Amino acid sequence: MQFDFDKLASRDRYKLLVSTVLPRPIGFTTTVDRDGVVNAAPFSFFNALAEEPPLLVLGLQAASGKAKDTARNITETGEFVVNTVSESIAEAMNICAIDFPPEIDELQQAGLTAAPSLKVRPPRVAESPSSFECKLWKSIEVGSAGLIVLGEVVAMHIADEFVDAEKLHVAAERMRLVGRMHGRGVYARTSDLFEIHRVTYDAWKAKP
Ligand SMILES: Cc1cc2nc3c(=O)[nH]c(=O)nc-3n(C[C@H](O)[C@H](O)[C@H](O)COP(=O)(O)O)c2cc1C
Repeated sequence: MQFDFDKLASRDRYKLLVSTVLPRPIGFTTTVDRDGVVNAAPFSFFNALAEEPPLLVLGLQAASGKAKDTARNITETGEFVVNTVSESIAEAMNICAIDFPPEIDELQQAGLTAAPSLKVRPPRVAESPSSFECKLWKSIEVGSAGLIVLGEVVAMHIADEFVDAEKLHVAAERMRLVGRMHGRGVYARTSDLFEIHRVTYDAWKAKP
């Protein structure tokens, strides 16, 4: 079946996209407003895009024609922290997606802990296996009140239990990160792994 996106309603385009770009990592994002009130919300339009400079991207959709608190805070302060989500904090992350009024601290509601960041004002989530402190690198307005945000990672935190500080080896499989799947409330674990090794052109040519 083929779909001409010009002929589809926005809701249907969204449905097809998020049911096929899978699994999507979750960028659990902490920001502060001008008064320092902490905000936390998950975004699965999220990924790492470049290494030099090290850039992360977030796709912040509008909510009923209004910019989300995360988008407003990033625009106003130029800073945010993206925290990763493990199975153990998946339920708490989901609580932070509730449409709380801006003055409510989602981390408190979800029973999560704000820990100070090194180089930016928004805190990181202490229970996350890893966190990326970002400064706004560029933002692009999309649709009505939507925002694509590119952040340069200026510092990173990885929980001690997952990292060998000397070799910078990260025990990724032990972090038990989750990804977002299709449909409502469906997630994937990252525990079903397999390996495919990269083949050089010389090795490819030497193959019988
Ligand atoms: C797993 C998950 C992924 C989400 N991904 C996105 C996303 O990529 N973009 C988006 O705009 N909203 C996304 N949402 C919805 C936001 O988290 C939700 O609208 C939140 O209340 C926004 O908070 P804020 O207004 O404090 O920024 C997602 C929700 C969940 C549970």
